[in-house]
Amino acid sequence: MENPYLAHRKESKENPYTGKSYTENYFKILEKREQLPVFQYKKDLLEALRNNQVTLLVGETGSGKTTQVPQFFVEELKPHLKNKMIVCTQPRRVAAMSVAKRVAEEMDVEFGREVGYTIRFDDFTTNNKTFLKYSTDGMLLREAMFDPLLTKYSCIILDETHERTCATDILMGLIKEIIPRRPDLRVLVMSATLDTERFLKYFEGSPLIKVPGRTFPVEILYSEKPELDYVDAAIRTVLQIHMKEDPGDILLFLTGEEEIEDVCRKLSFRGNEMVDYPILKPIPLYSSLPPNEQQRIFCDPPKPREPGKPPGRKVIVSTNIAETSLTIDGIVYVIDPGFCKQKIYNPRNRVESLQVTPISQASAEQRAGRAGRTRPGKCYRLYTKESYDTHLTKQTPPEMLRTNLTTVVLQLYRIGVANICKFHFMEPPAPETMMRALEILNYMGALDDEGDLTELGKMMSDFPVDPQLAKVLISSSKYKCVSQMLSIVSMLSIQNPFLRPADKKKEADRARQAFADVCGDHFLLLNVYDTYVKNQFDAKRWCRENFLNPRAMASAVRIREQLEKIMKRFKFEISELSPLQKEFQNNIQKSLISGFFMQVACTNKSTGKYEIIKENEKVDLHLSTCLQSKPTWVVFNEYIQTTTASIRTVTEISNYKWLLEIAPAYYDLDTLPAGAARDYFIKEKYENKPKAKKQKRHK
Ligand code: CDP
Ligand code: MG
Repeated sequence: MENPYLAHRKESKENPYTGKSYTENYFKILEKREQLPVFQYKKDLLEALRNNQVTLLVGETGSGKTTQVPQFFVEELKPHLKNKMIVCTQPRRVAAMSVAKRVAEEMDVEFGREVGYTIRFDDFTTNNKTFLKYSTDGMLLREAMFDPLLTKYSCIILDETHERTCATDILMGLIKEIIPRRPDLRVLVMSATLDTERFLKYFEGSPLIKVPGRTFPVEILYSEKPELDYVDAAIRTVLQIHMKEDPGDILLFLTGEEEIEDVCRKLSFRGNEMVDYPILKPIPLYSSLPPNEQQRIFCDPPKPREPGKPPGRKVIVSTNIAETSLTIDGIVYVIDPGFCKQKIYNPRNRVESLQVTPISQASAEQRAGRAGRTRPGKCYRLYTKESYDTHLTKQTPPEMLRTNLTTVVLQLYRIGVANICKFHFMEPPAPETMMRALEILNYMGALDDEGDLTELGKMMSDFPVDPQLAKVLISSSKYKCVSQMLSIVSMLSIQNPFLRPADKKKEADRARQAFADVCGDHFLLLNVYDTYVKNQFDAKRWCRENFLNPRAMASAVRIREQLEKIMKRFKFEISELSPLQKEFQNNIQKSLISGFFMQVACTNKSTGKYEIIKENEKVDLHLSTCLQSKPTWVVFNEYIQTTTASIRTVTEISNYKWLLEIAPAYYDLDTLPAGAARDYFIKEKYENKPKAKKQKRHK
């Protein structure tokens, strides 16, 4: 029997959103869409939407939540006629972009017009035209700073809420505050697996709709003994599957871009050697990949080498993105080494770092589930059963509990949340982390001693970067080096632009060292940026020769333009120092200190090792630094904990008295704990005293 819905659509050949007739492609996709499990629940969903302000929806990954449900709501709410948009949030940039593109195609409208996306530093929507927008959760939270009731929207869909990112958690809290003041607003909270009890309690009285999954059994295979090197083990497993198993694509989870690119290269090399087997096609997937390359994961597997032979095999090598945010059809084999990169924050030493961490059991289950979408599959866990049972935690703790809250707290202040300590968090952060954030914002001058947002704090929150970087930019005007700091801050806001291919490490390091500066790595970044801009007419070749990632460099230019716009909006002159001026080095250092005075280390005279001020934690300079000597005082951008602790992107502080001048409250001798820094300051005081007396006597 023909689907009545489809029949109806076939009759009305005109697309209500464009006025044009539907293309063939539209009907082709429509048929597939209607087979998605969520389609059976369209009526229930719309009814819930009519009768409730908040509705919860749980459905297995791939059931059609992200792509279909917003379209149901478009049909119902007709945002194109009402001047109010529908927004659907995603914790991941890649998902926002890729899903927006897919939905534009499904609706047969132009991507970036009726349907678009917004991510940080990148807005792909059209004013007064876009009525369905996919947005990162962080960007919607930013919008709330300027429009606390989110009046632009008739409907807000929070997707992937099970990921429990900080921004999504805060948005949920805000929604609870907005709802009584916006009776017209409709909210849908969607997730793959849900801690149902917790959500139902949090959104008391809201209906829950469950879309049952449509999955096939997945056989789980564990390693017999622990793997020494999970990357090697992963490559080995891919090749074994390719040689021994039936056709079907492979999904391999790794932790980050560098690792992924490296493995793709190796697999490609090994695949080319295996001429007796079908074609093996590795495809990388990670968040900084440009949209057109991300689309490659949806392409068909390679053709057979000869007609009649088995088809080739795709191997998607991905970060956690493929765990729940993106569904790739055709995956039969999943390889799970059991690791992901996670943000970890230690409020005691205030350092936040991305670390390769074991995943949780819940993640492992999700990963395995990816293998059973189209037919029975297999999941290879590169760890032992015992390890799964004893070492993996049940759930990944929410980001709120393992992140530096400074940015978030500043945003909440800006939104005007009356009492942050009483804000209804789903799981409140540790009081210590909260106090730390308030303390840091106070040291930075964003909050005054009464705990109120200052003008400076308000200004800082307007910049779409961390408060430290915003402070650096604002202060640079005092030091007459706005232009230089815009370049440095932009370079700090992109992914690591330095490429270091495994077989060309030496050449890459040499290329990088050519940009070196005696003052340190921030100056090196400035040199890279300036030279890139001079060579922009031939950017690709230039980047290749200098082992730089051209995409990262291009985004630095775009970010810089946006930050410059904000500086101009605040009427800051875009001042520039000449490298020949004697203030050049000093003023750039001073600007850096004004934002990063809490990220300073000095050498301990007796051990010669660096210690982070106040925490006295011992650290090394990261191997990548261009500093040839070890300056006594340094300011750093990032703390990295692997087997040892190190600091990355480091610049000398030529005169440590600047610390006392720029951040007197933080470097107050009365509160500064014992340690190398205190020793220097005390010595300075002591050594200078007789001198001062002598001078007086002479007078
Ligand atoms: O959000 P959920 O995981 O429930 O599913 P979805 O992302 O809406 O995906 C539904 C279907 O659309 C899946 O079968 C995907 O393979 C397909 N899809 C696609 O073909 N291309 C995309 N860019 C996104 C989704
Ligand atoms: Mg989804």
